[in-house]
Amino acid sequence: MATVGSSSITVRALVCVEQDGKAASVAAQRAPRVRVCNDEFFAWAERTGERFNCFVGNPPFIRYQTFNGDARRRALALCAKLGVAFSGLSASWAPFLVVAANLLRPGGRAAFVAPAAIGHAPCAGPLLDHLVGRFQEVRVVAVRRKLFPRPSENCRLLLADGFWRRHSRDRLRRCRRDPAGTRAAAR
Ligand SMILES: C[S@@+](CC[C@H](N)C(=O)[O-])C[C@H]1O[C@@H](n2cnc3c(N)ncnc32)[C@H](O)[C@@H]1O
Repeated sequence: MATVGSSSITVRALVCVEQDGKAASVAAQRAPRVRVCNDEFFAWAERTGERFNCFVGNPPFIRYQTFNGDARRRALALCAKLGVAFSGLSASWAPFLVVAANLLRPGGRAAFVAPAAIGHAPCAGPLLDHLVGRFQEVRVVAVRRKLFPRPSENCRLLLADGFWRRHSRDRLRRCRRDPAGTRAAAR
């Protein structure tokens, strides 16, 4: 068991999936109690029978021109099986969110970093339709301060709660957080 940060959440088991061998071994050294799977995410997802209470991810934002090969084929096939048809223009992050979300147990929740393109990319429509159909609540949070120190794409946080739970009336919310990250300011 491990306690996360200063919160009172108790975590029984943490599993991390990372395809890059170096990054996986750094993760294993830094978090020795975490089970690190050095694997390609979609190959791992296809095989695993495990289901999770929570999923946290900062998936790669690989544009469709370079998101190719086996990983792309597997990703799109898994999404199609789940009822999500992404076009050939889909970047990598959207299939990561769909496939990861569907590895949750009922009632599970997920938090992902997503590019600001979640507001307008062609893959955002099928992705959000799928998520609002599966979760009790889905929130896309715009954080005013930069999430990452290095120059990077403008990001949003996608928070989804209540996998396969009854929907609230207001299923998709857009929020803004103040710089301290404490308050949802707008819908
Ligand atoms: C945006 S980085 C996030 C790194 C780290 N989790 C963080 O938040 O700082 C994306 C990570 O996903 C890994 N990655 C990319 N494609 C992957 C795939 N198909 N399966 C597993 N890991 C992958 C990359 O090697 C990289 O470490």
